[in-house]
Amino acid sequence: MAQDAAKAPVVAEAHEVDTFHPPQKMLEKHPSKPHLSGLEEYQQLYKESITEPTKFWGRLARELLTWHKDFQTVRSGSLAGGDVAWFLEGEINASYNCIDRHAFKDPNRVAIIYEADEPSDGRTVTYGELLREVSRVAYVLRDLGVRKGDTVAIYLPMIPEALVAILACARIGAVHSVVFAGFSSDSLRDRVIDARSKVVITSDEGKRGGKLIGTKKIVDDALRQCPDVSGVLVFKRTGADIPMTKGRDVWWHEEVEKWPSYIAPERMSSEDPLFLLYTSGSTGKPKGMMHTTGGYLLGAATTGKYVFDIHEGDRFFCGGDVGWITGHTYVVYAPLLLGVSTVVFEGTPAYPNFSRYWDIIENHKVTQFYVAPTALRLLKRAGNQHVRNEMKHLRVLGSVGEPIAAEVWKWYFEVVGKEEAQIVDTYWQTETGSHVITPLAGVTPTKPGSASLPFFGIEPAIIDPVSGEEIHGNDVEGVLAFKQPWPSMARTVWGAHKRYMETYLNVYKGYYFTGDGAGRDHEGFYWIRGRVDDVVNVSGHRLSTAEIEAALIEHAAIAEAAVVGVADELTGQAVNAFVSIKDGNEATDALRKEFILQVRRSIGPFAAPKAVFIVPDLPKTRSGKIMRRILRKILAGEEDQLGDITTLSDPSVVEKIINTVHEAK
Ligand code: WTA
Repeated sequence: MAQDAAKAPVVAEAHEVDTFHPPQKMLEKHPSKPHLSGLEEYQQLYKESITEPTKFWGRLARELLTWHKDFQTVRSGSLAGGDVAWFLEGEINASYNCIDRHAFKDPNRVAIIYEADEPSDGRTVTYGELLREVSRVAYVLRDLGVRKGDTVAIYLPMIPEALVAILACARIGAVHSVVFAGFSSDSLRDRVIDARSKVVITSDEGKRGGKLIGTKKIVDDALRQCPDVSGVLVFKRTGADIPMTKGRDVWWHEEVEKWPSYIAPERMSSEDPLFLLYTSGSTGKPKGMMHTTGGYLLGAATTGKYVFDIHEGDRFFCGGDVGWITGHTYVVYAPLLLGVSTVVFEGTPAYPNFSRYWDIIENHKVTQFYVAPTALRLLKRAGNQHVRNEMKHLRVLGSVGEPIAAEVWKWYFEVVGKEEAQIVDTYWQTETGSHVITPLAGVTPTKPGSASLPFFGIEPAIIDPVSGEEIHGNDVEGVLAFKQPWPSMARTVWGAHKRYMETYLNVYKGYYFTGDGAGRDHEGFYWIRGRVDDVVNVSGHRLSTAEIEAALIEHAAIAEAAVVGVADELTGQAVNAFVSIKDGNEATDALRKEFILQVRRSIGPFAAPKAVFIVPDLPKTRSGKIMRRILRKILAGEEDQLGDITTLSDPSVVEKIINTVHEAK
């Protein structure tokens, strides 16, 4: 009850926020005009996508993708059955759709604009060059023993070769499994083993923000415990002196020399897996979300076209990393499927200075820019003097991965976009493959902080988490679910279909459950409230508190650990850990540092707790369940609102924890 009451004013507030229409100036500088004439056409098409999904998606699949063999069944299966399939009988190849059809038309068109870590080191790759390099690497992979259906692990920095590696896998029907290059060797090892990858693609080193990252060394460490890996393809990025394991490691530049510049694309069934991408959930072990070919590609192409208003000749810049879903769909697939240029940025927004993003946008005449609010908060704080005045080509400014606060939204709109570009706050997940609730640039009116309206084919439902019933009408709050399957939804958790069903499809039978809370305001606009499970969002990185706890407990001195997310001005949420230590250990700063190091080692630097509190005991119920809610309240300074603590097995620990937190602050 108390929670509901606390949520109510948020909706009331939402009523008062301004509505922003697509800026007139954006339409004036448009190379032609948006793909839809306005909100009415969106509504018409949306209606068709819900009432006649097979007609709607069948048409778009033929319009936006090139099939080797046409499909007959647009959709089969159901959410309840967990057996959704799209475009059966259809045969298609992802790399053909991303490369060949554009290369044939115009081989000199720029596919990749590479912005290296050092501003002067970049280059461009044309569609013709991309076809040749992808073909050669495809041969190399075959030579390393990769066959259709095999998974290949990719552990690469943000360089053009990451895209080449991804597309080379797709070309021969191998399933790419990109592991974010910020993950530790332990995390990489777990993913290589879970996916049963026999080949890993990596680089000697990476370069980011002026610092070197020992990519190959991390791979070597991981592979010590992966006896099944028989081949490692190493791209020379920095020329560092690195050990090569004989009979296993080969150099990219040496191997590609041996092969011709064209290989025919493998004909894949629409439902053949295209990739795995591991993501965090409520329980410790990361899930390998499996995406298939036809449906995923259609989701990427359709959202690219309508959400970002992509037109021929555009230069699209997504600041996400290929190690996350944002990079998969909007650095690689969407822009390349639509035949435009995609910016691949190796560095950080703060290197060599806070103008880096804006310099890239100006220098490459970027038309769409897409980034997580965490970067915007950093840049807003750095000061408006860093933002370039020009950037005249920008038409769309996207936001992704976490809620964007109204004041950051307005800063993005006014200071970055000069009120000449539309903000699109896009809500989606690794599991959804592409945007699900989002404005369409040039079409949908927006309200700062709302992801606005459902994308085509998405039928949202607000569900009462207590009764499990759908709440109809507007001005409602609950958890967010979807009622119909859509083409780019993940089909399973790799090797764990039961877990897939339990996490997403059996929670509310007949619905896909997102794990997020949401409200629908009086005009039907959606407001994402954040996760209702144990997932935290740090700088747009999705982390599981359970996974961090599991990492901490691996440390010999830790008896128990509880991890919670707390609001953080810069990173959105931050990880705070409470640990009790085993007898014989002393609560010192050195030990706290060791615990942080333990998480960095076990998961990766980005998961490191911002604070570690060593406490005598954790607040537990008599049955031993850790009450994380109490820890959250204490961190938020709401000690007076802890509620009933008499049910704890030892209520006196609360006082001790409060003291520990106060001392640390
Ligand atoms: C959150 C990232 C608010 C949400 C694409 C979701 C958002 C999780 C938004 C998925 C948004 C994503 N507004 N919250 N526009 N977009 N989220 O899998 O909690 O890394 O469930 O995919 O990020 O994170 P993931």
